[in-house]
Order: sequence, then structure tokens, then C-alpha cells
Amino acid sequence: MRPGNTKAVEEMFNSISSKYDFLNDIFSFGLHRFWKRRLLDILNPSFGEKWIDLCCGTGDMSILLARYMKSSENITGIDSASQALLVAKERSKQNYSSIEWINGDALQTDLPSDQFDGLLMSYGLRNLSSSYEGFREALRILKPGGRAGILDFRSFEGPSIQRLFQEIYLSFYVVPIASLFGLGKEYSYIKKSLVNFPSGEKQIHLALSVGFKKAKYKTLAKGQMGILLLEA
Ligand SMILES: C[S@@+](CC[C@H](N)C(=O)[O-])C[C@H]1O[C@@H](n2cnc3c(N)ncnc32)[C@H](O)[C@@H]1O
Repeated sequence: MRPGNTKAVEEMFNSISSKYDFLNDIFSFGLHRFWKRRLLDILNPSFGEKWIDLCCGTGDMSILLARYMKSSENITGIDSASQALLVAKERSKQNYSSIEWINGDALQTDLPSDQFDGLLMSYGLRNLSSSYEGFREALRILKPGGRAGILDFRSFEGPSIQRLFQEIYLSFYVVPIASLFGLGKEYSYIKKSLVNFPSGEKQIHLALSVGFKKAKYKTLAKGQMGILLLEA
């Protein structure tokens, strides 16, 4: 599968949705929760604010956000994969039933402009057919002054030890383990999705070019992950 093919990306995430959370824990040694929590600590969403989680998948980030804000009111999660959203709905129905789950496209949400105080996207940007269009839509739906945090793998520009580590980790840890569950082909997509994924510096440049007022990039996990912080 080629990155940028929106329909194929949707089908792939539908097909892995039942094992997605389990494999995420294995691949990150459970650390993805810590990185997501770190993002929330930086953004500090507060009770009463309206937030959206773009590319919410099975709802991990949205539910963490609800826990953080001590309320699931005013939270929207949007994803193009309907099967992933079914998992999200099931996980949230008991304690976080007010989260609104929307089956839609993060590049064209059809939501009214200027309505969110904050926006999150974890491991979604890399999967969009255009980061630029993703930033544009994010800016459109955020209120002026709204804040956004985007967490994803880091994309390296030149050769480095960190890049080598990433390649070894993806090719010799992630793919072989995913293969044990019949999902080797699906998880080999992560490496492909990083080929044209902009580096932190380029993400800053793109976000500023669509009109965000401020953009900052921080790395996590010994430089393997990156957080892009934006102000609309
Ligand atoms: C790697 S998962 C991340 C899920 C979740 N945010 C997390 O951190 O675990 C990427 C998600 O992006 C979604 N996605 C990819 N392209 C999308 C698009 N154009 N619009 C909405 N969702 C999209 C996929 O369906 C998938 O659920």
C-alpha cells in the first residue's frame, strides 16, 4: 500500500482496528500513553474547553483527554476508519459517553470554523495524504488563539544513529511481531509513511505557512518521537 492513498489507508486501519491497541502497547512497551500524557501536560486542556482529536482511531487520546479534563463533554473524536470508531465507542460508552465520535475526513471535516479551543492529533499526521492540507483544516476549525498538539514519529533528514535505530526498530521489531498476528504487511506501512513525512523543522514551516501564529517542535523518547505545538 502506498501512503497518500486515502481509501487504502482507511481500509488498512479498519482491518487492524481490533488488534491496534494491543499491538500499540507491545510496540511502544506501553510508553505511547506516557507520550500522550506528556502532550496533554504541555497543552493543559481545562474543564469547559472544547477540544477535538483528529485521526482519533480507537479513541485512546480522546479518552485520555476526557480523564485529564475530568469530563467527556465538549470532546470530539474524528476518524475515517469506521471500525476503529466502533472500538472507540465501545471503550468510551461506560465512563466517557459524552465524547462525540465522527466518521469523517481530517482533511475536510465539514465542521464549522473557529469553534475549538484545542486540537490533538496523535500518530495521524503521517497518514494524511497532505500534511499541508491537514494543517489548513486544523487552523480553520480552531478558534483564534486556540492551541494544537501533534504527536508522531520523528522523521529524520540525513543519516544519524537515531534514524538507524528507527529503521532497525521498525524492520526488525515491529514488522516481525506484527507478522505473528498476520499483520506484517499492514505494519510495514509505518516505514513507508515516514519516507515523505516532513521533519520537525519542515512541519514548523508548513504550519506557519498556512497561518498558524506560533509553532514549536519538541522531541521525546531519545529523539524518536516528536511533538509539534501550534497556536492559531
Ligand atoms: C496510527 S492511527 C492513530 C490512532 C490514535 N490517534 C492513536 O494515537 O492511537 C492513525 C489513524 O488516522 C486515521 N486517518 C488516516 N487518514 C485519515 C483522514 N484523512 N481522516 C481521518 N482519519 C484518518 C486512521 O484511520 C487511523 O485510525
